[in-house]
Amino acid sequence: MSAPNPVPPSRTPLEERLLTLIGDNGPISVGDFMADALSHPQHGYYATQDPFGRGGDFTTAPEISQLFGELVGAWLVDAWQTIGAPSLFNLVELGPGRGTLMADILRVGKVRPAFLEAAKVYMVDNSGRLRLRQQRTLDGVHDAITWVDGLEAVPAAPTLLVANEFFDCLPIRQFVRTAEDSDTPWRERLVGRDDAGGAPRLCFTLSDQAYGHRRGMPAGAIPESIFEECAAGLEIIRALATRFEEHKGRALIIDYGHGRAGYGDTFQAVKRHDYWHPLASPGLADITAHVDFAALARAGRDANTRVDGPVRQGPFLDRLGLKPRLDALCTQTDEETKALLTSGADRLAAPEAMGDLFKVMALSSPGLPEPPGFS
Ligand SMILES: C[S@@+](CC[C@H](N)C(=O)[O-])C[C@H]1O[C@@H](n2cnc3c(N)ncnc32)[C@H](O)[C@@H]1O
Repeated sequence: MSAPNPVPPSRTPLEERLLTLIGDNGPISVGDFMADALSHPQHGYYATQDPFGRGGDFTTAPEISQLFGELVGAWLVDAWQTIGAPSLFNLVELGPGRGTLMADILRVGKVRPAFLEAAKVYMVDNSGRLRLRQQRTLDGVHDAITWVDGLEAVPAAPTLLVANEFFDCLPIRQFVRTAEDSDTPWRERLVGRDDAGGAPRLCFTLSDQAYGHRRGMPAGAIPESIFEECAAGLEIIRALATRFEEHKGRALIIDYGHGRAGYGDTFQAVKRHDYWHPLASPGLADITAHVDFAALARAGRDANTRVDGPVRQGPFLDRLGLKPRLDALCTQTDEETKALLTSGADRLAAPEAMGDLFKVMALSSPGLPEPPGFS
C-alpha cells in the first residue's frame, strides 16, 4: 500500500455534520470520530459501504480461504468438548462481516452433530446492512440464529465466542506526549476544525486538559510519542471474564496488533486496499487501529480469567493443522483450485503476509486447560 493520500476535495455528509458539531461544541475525541465514521446509522462506513473483497476496501481471513473458518470451527468444537459438551450453549461471533466465518464454522460443526444441536448462534453486529448480508449467507444453514447489538443481549449460559477483525474497529483514544516537564505532560489528541485557508476541514488538535501517566504506558516516551487506549475493548474482555466465571466458556480473538505495549500512531483508514488520511471522507473509508493485545490480556488476567497468547496467526494456524488440511483439500481438486487454496493458505500464514501481523489470543474460564494452537 502507498502513503496516505491528500485529503480529497469533496466533503461527505458525515464530514459536514461533524464540522457543524465541532464548530458548535468544540473538538471531539478520536474515539468519537471513529465511532461515527464507522457506525453512524445513516452515514457510517458499515451502514453505507460494502467493504469486503477485491471490489471493496479490504479482505479478511475467512474471505481469503475456507481453511481459516474450518480450523477455527475445529478449535470451537474442541472447546465445546473441553467445557463439558453442554447440551445448550451460546455460539457467539462479534462483528461477523459477511457471515462467511460462521458459515464455515457451522459446516465443520457437522462432524459433531451434538455440537450443532446444542449451539444457539448469536451474531453481534451493529450494521443493519451487514446483518442482511449475514442473513443471506446463513439462510437455511442453522435453525437457531439470533442477531443482537451487543454481548449483553446474549443470555447467561455456557458460551464459545469468536471475534476476527472486530476489536480493531472499536474506538480508541490517543494521548500525545508534550515536551512539558511536569507530572501531567500528556494531552489528548482530538479532532477539530480548521477554518484557515477557505473551506473548513477536519484536523487534529490537542486537548487543553493535561494528563499524567496512564495505565499500561511503557517507559521510554519522548515528546510526540502517541499512546492509544481502547476502553470498549477492555470492557468486552471484562464482560467475557464475568460470563466465564458464571458459566464455562472460551473465546478466540484474532486481529492485527501488537503483543507488547508501545507507542505509535496506528489510527488508519483504508479505501480500495490503499491507505487514506484517517480524517478524509469519514463514512467512505474503513477506519481502524491496531489492537493492543497486552492491554486486553492484562484486563483478562486482572478479571481472573485464563488468558493464552497472544501468538502470531501463522504459527497458530500451523499448529491447528493448516498444512495437512490444505493437502487433504488439494488431493480432491483440480490444478486451478489447488493453486487458489495454496496461495490462500500462504496469505493467512506467511510472516510477510498476515502470519506475523495478526495475533491470536484466547480467554477461558478459570481451571480450563490450555487450548490448542498456543504452544
Ligand atoms: C472488519 S469487519 C470483520 C468481518 C468478519 N469478522 C470477517 O472476518 O470477515 C467488522 C465487523 O464488525 C462490525 N462492527 C464494527 N463495529 C461494531 C460495533 N461497535 N458493534 C458491533 N459490530 C460492529 C461491522 O459491522 C462488521 O461486521
